Amino acid sequence: MDLKSIENIVSLCKRRGFIFQSSEIYGGLGSTWDYGPYGVEMKQKIKDFWWHDVVTSRENVVGMDAAILMHPKTWEASGHVSNFHDPLVDCKNCKARYRADHVDLNKPCERCGKKDWTEPRQFNLMFKTAIGPVEDSGEITYLRPETAQGIFVNFMNVQGTSRQKLPFGIAQLGKAFRNEITTGNFLFRTREFEQMELEFFIYPGENEKSLDYWCKERLNWFKKLGINPEKLRLRPHDKDELAHYSTACFDVEYEFPFGWSELEGIADRGTFDLDQHNEYSGKKQQYFDPQTNERIIPAVVESSAGVDRTFLTCLVDAYCEEEVRDEKRIVLKLDPKIAPITCAVFPLVKKDGLPEISQKIVEDIRTKYSAFFDQGGSIGRRYRRQDEAGTPYGVTVDHQTTEDGTVTLRDRDTMDQVRISTDNILSELQSRIQ
Ligand code: GAP
Repeated sequence: MDLKSIENIVSLCKRRGFIFQSSEIYGGLGSTWDYGPYGVEMKQKIKDFWWHDVVTSRENVVGMDAAILMHPKTWEASGHVSNFHDPLVDCKNCKARYRADHVDLNKPCERCGKKDWTEPRQFNLMFKTAIGPVEDSGEITYLRPETAQGIFVNFMNVQGTSRQKLPFGIAQLGKAFRNEITTGNFLFRTREFEQMELEFFIYPGENEKSLDYWCKERLNWFKKLGINPEKLRLRPHDKDELAHYSTACFDVEYEFPFGWSELEGIADRGTFDLDQHNEYSGKKQQYFDPQTNERIIPAVVESSAGVDRTFLTCLVDAYCEEEVRDEKRIVLKLDPKIAPITCAVFPLVKKDGLPEISQKIVEDIRTKYSAFFDQGGSIGRRYRRQDEAGTPYGVTVDHQTTEDGTVTLRDRDTMDQVRISTDNILSELQSRIQ
């Protein structure tokens, strides 16, 4: 069995409270997932790390948060109403449904073995909804299929108020929805997901330079997230793969157990989106260039990553099974900065004042990092539980602590233990976490 198979990850996620099937008590809803206590902590840390790297640490990028529901004309202008389709085929015999570009129509259906396909039909991936209490007469709009359009329609507002000069970026993080025909591989392709998107506005002509810059930056970000660099690559799109709005695109890909797959697209969108909104809204979408005193429509390089795909990548990349003293140890070797719990604290026994000392240590650690107190079961079992949850450090309080104020600090990956003073726990953690 492939140790890194997605099934192992799904079962660990459920066991440790990272991810649950959505509406599980009603039998679940296909390809939708809920983040549990550890999952939501880790997801938040990934989002914070992206926001810091892309927005807070840069002078020339600002953030925003647009509504999910947007004026329906947005999606006509963006080209999603007419172009955001996947080709769909059905097996007439067993009614299985596939993306036509994912199956060989000269071969039989892999579910029932019969070869009786419908003609391919185009299927729009946007979720339609109606605004207003009466469905029939309500105004039809869509759940956004990308967060990017919220940025484009606010270009003039954000540029005007933030007084940014080209080149500059607007970033947004939030939910997107696509009525995917085929989903699967756990969090990899779902109908509801989160995106981390940056639209970087530039002088037309600087597209290639900017695309190159952002490809390097973004690949590097995934490496800084602790993902094995040998399993990451940049792949240029072939011409026939390009989305309707882009003229060049690179994907950051990861080598999953199911093959190399996209984590993020970095695309040259040119002036497509601002041109379209200019035309459809009748409102000028322009930038006044103080150097030339001319109004221009900036070009755009976009970086668009999926939060849930990044989360899945971190889990797959961190998942290890090891033999330790003839026993199997499952451990998530997550980078400490995204581990749900940074440090677990264990009193060796539930008496002699050890739980009280441990609680005090937990409180201290919580001033800076996430911490967890656990006094249930043998110390070995408690270590194993935290190894599975990806907790990089464990502090054990024992009887020596009551004598000399020292504790043991255990490293998740090496399992090495050192004895340090209680007063130095925070500084020791700080020096180990970059
Ligand atoms: N604004 C450009 C855009 O949306 P995309 O390549 O369609 O480009 C960007 O999507 C990223 O969003 C993908 O690289 C992926 O990480 C994530 N994504 C897209 N569809 C997804 C889905 N159905 N489930 C999970 N993540 C998805």
